[in-house]
Amino acid sequence: MYVCLCHGVTDTDIRRLVRIEGVSTMRELRQELGVASQCGKCGRCAKEVLREAVNEARDEQALCPGLAAA
Ligand code: FES
Repeated sequence: MYVCLCHGVTDTDIRRLVRIEGVSTMRELRQELGVASQCGKCGRCAKEVLREAVNEARDEQALCPGLAAA
């Protein structure tokens, strides 16, 4: 689903960034994708998707520590 219409950012984009680049804060997300940097209407949703993605990444890493090295 689209999270940020101004920049065409989807929840998949955010989850990918968290898993691959290790992004974990709204500041980093804004810098990387421009989320919440124009009209700002996506900020709340983006924050929630980011929180979920960070928690999922932590859970995966706890279950499969080798993923971090891959
Ligand atoms: S919808 Fe994200 S900045 Fe406007």
